[in-house]
Amino acid sequence: MKRDLALDFARVTEAAALAAQKWVGRGDKNLADDAAVQAMRNVLNRLKIDGEIVIGEGEIDEAPMLYIGEKVGLKYNPEKIEEFRDEDLEPVDIAVDPIEGTRMTAQGQPNAVAVFAAAKKGHFLKAPDMYMEKIVVGPDAKGCIDIDDSLENNIRNVAKALGKNVEDLMIAVLEKPRHKKVIEKIRDLGAKMYVFPDGDVATSILTCMVDSDVDMMYGIGGAPEGVVSAAVIRALGGDMQAKLVLRSDVKGSDDKNDKISEEENKRCIEAGVEVNKKLTLEELVSTDEIVFSGTGITDGDLLTGVKRKGNIARTQTLLVRGSSKTVRYINSIHNLDFKDSHLDEIIK
Ligand code: FBP
Repeated sequence: MKRDLALDFARVTEAAALAAQKWVGRGDKNLADDAAVQAMRNVLNRLKIDGEIVIGEGEIDEAPMLYIGEKVGLKYNPEKIEEFRDEDLEPVDIAVDPIEGTRMTAQGQPNAVAVFAAAKKGHFLKAPDMYMEKIVVGPDAKGCIDIDDSLENNIRNVAKALGKNVEDLMIAVLEKPRHKKVIEKIRDLGAKMYVFPDGDVATSILTCMVDSDVDMMYGIGGAPEGVVSAAVIRALGGDMQAKLVLRSDVKGSDDKNDKISEEENKRCIEAGVEVNKKLTLEELVSTDEIVFSGTGITDGDLLTGVKRKGNIARTQTLLVRGSSKTVRYINSIHNLDFKDSHLDEIIK
């Protein structure tokens, strides 16, 4: 992938974060999400890429924009803004979550991030929009996890790999009713826990950051978020394993969930992926040629959120290139009066 594209991808999440920031604390997560989606799409359609969204805002029949299968890039811009040659367009697969933490954005809470990952074509798992069980660790515990083994054994093995006692291990778990038993189990083992309300991409990344206390993340979250996490975890040298899980197996089997799971099953068959089967990091993302970009919307453990005074805004972005393993924090000051006109209405 052309190196300069990395900075272009940083612009994609910066635009989404700036757009989302307008809606922080306004109580409407759909309007926040719409704004971020639109901003991302507008920027993507100005890039010299031949891109396909493989992980996005739902399936084609559910989402108006950035849906799975949508094509993005200069070639697909309906406004035909620039001449291009096909051979100059980089073919990429894209995984996005324009706002990871839509609820937190709407409620003005911390840890909302705009996230994006791109890879050479054909290297992301085409995971349907469903649940995924995930276990994530940093580089020092690489090779020591096995999602088919018990949580207790995984915790002991990770502690051993890190040269720590189980009591000193910090495990991050999403605070959801479905994790009640998991939380009890970890408490019984005596490990420390970072229980967070939303946002398992940002928290997965913490396992690979030297300045974070989080050693391991475990739990069931979104499958799309799982693939985005896998891309950046691979680039950061960490490890991850996962399993696709049907909603009916997660939240009990009422009729509504059974119907949703029928659909999930169908989508898994279409995508050629199996439910409840171990997925290694290599199966989730099978190339080092990835770029990950995440821009903070609200302040969080990983990134600071958008700060704005009048039409001057500051963003912080984490940009990771898998092929060089370079990790960049980009602090940008944006003068919104001078942004491209296609972003005007969305971010001002
Ligand atoms: P979104 O804001 O994109 O919905 O993601 C927030 C999140 O907490 C993810 O980090 C996580 O993977 C997923 O939601 C968990 O799903 P649920 O909200 O159904 O528990």
